[in-house]
Amino acid sequence: MVASANRRIVSDLYEQGWSVIDHYVPEELRAALLEEQQDILRHGQFRHAGIGTGDSFSIKPEIRSDKVFWMDEAQLTPLQQQYWLLMDSLRRDINQRCFLGLRAFEAHFAMYPPGSFYLRHLDQFQAVAYRVVTVILYLNESWEEESGGALRMYLSGENGEETHVDVYPEGGKLVVFLSGEIPHEVLLTHKERVSITGWFKDV
Ligand code: OGA
Ligand code: MN
Repeated sequence: MVASANRRIVSDLYEQGWSVIDHYVPEELRAALLEEQQDILRHGQFRHAGIGTGDSFSIKPEIRSDKVFWMDEAQLTPLQQQYWLLMDSLRRDINQRCFLGLRAFEAHFAMYPPGSFYLRHLDQFQAVAYRVVTVILYLNESWEEESGGALRMYLSGENGEETHVDVYPEGGKLVVFLSGEIPHEVLLTHKERVSITGWFKDV
């Protein structure tokens, strides 16, 4: 199951730079990760997400208004460990065909409260040039298009014109794309929107 999904992700990445897979993780794992996220949230451990890293880090609610909780590789819970292992085998599968030299991984839970969004951006910018591939796993129990909150990826269409695809954050779905090449945004969500965002890095 995961093996064939990974094969598809790898060839999508190779051919178009992005991939979307429904039901990437078993329903029990999705539900358990969501429960863990809700637990961390209840304990007040989510923080306003920011832009940049180190000295250039700043919180800009006019650009992004989600909250995040970074996973600590040295202190993963058994569930986070399961997710980490899945991502590690995806990393190795991508390396085998795409030669991207992905070596490490970082990830955070993200929660977009109703009324939040993340304006158009690239995940690779000066401060985080080492982010090569973005992977987003949605944890939501259910999602209707009226709730908004789509991930909009901007792509170059025929004769260089820009087009886009909207991906709704249905639980269990995995989105993978080249961090430095696909501009994207999270459209205004009307409902709480939960995910785990990770990045494969070449350092
Ligand atoms: C991000 C991001 C998209 C999403 O965290 O950088 O763009 O669909 N997330 O959650
Ligand atoms: Mn992003």
